[in-house]
Amino acid sequence: MGKHKNILNTLRAIALEHTTEQPDLALMARELGRVVHQDALALATRLASLRNRRHGLERWLLAERGRPPVSVLVLAWPPNHVTPVHDHAGLWGLEMTLVGALEVHSYQRDATTGDLRLRGRDWLGPGDGTWFEGDRHHAHRCRNLSRHETALSLHVYGGNLAEYFAYERAESTGQWSAPLPRRSALAGRLSG
Ligand SMILES: [Fe+2]
Repeated sequence: MGKHKNILNTLRAIALEHTTEQPDLALMARELGRVVHQDALALATRLASLRNRRHGLERWLLAERGRPPVSVLVLAWPPNHVTPVHDHAGLWGLEMTLVGALEVHSYQRDATTGDLRLRGRDWLGPGDGTWFEGDRHHAHRCRNLSRHETALSLHVYGGNLAEYFAYERAESTGQWSAPLPRRSALAGRLSG
């Protein structure tokens, strides 16, 4: 039990330790990924209750700090759940799969036309991450690749991502509409 409890503390400590005004996100991802790879079973056991809740997409706060600003979250993804294309309010961020597998489509938004261009597709298994460096024009869409299992992911953001923008594309014209503000609620706080 002790080990299962400690792994969240370890992930939180790594995220906070590597948070600066301009963090080295590749390094943070490598350090977090190493722990996730090493202790995948402990992690799945510790977080089993989040996978069994079946309450829809849930965001759990693991840590937050003011200076430099950072928030660390665990997200629970219902089977097949897909987000809208969304930005991160200009914050830097790192998103890493803990349990299961996520697909991420990354986009770059044209500052003049508002059009979004697909930049890449990634498939993230446990310990795999994607990150962005506080670019206002970066957006992405994430999906749980499983039809049956809840996936879990770790998110580290350079601030409190309470508000962001979602983007929609008209099927008839292929045009991206003006961004829509969204609010993200917390399901609760996770203790280490
Ligand atoms: Fe995101």
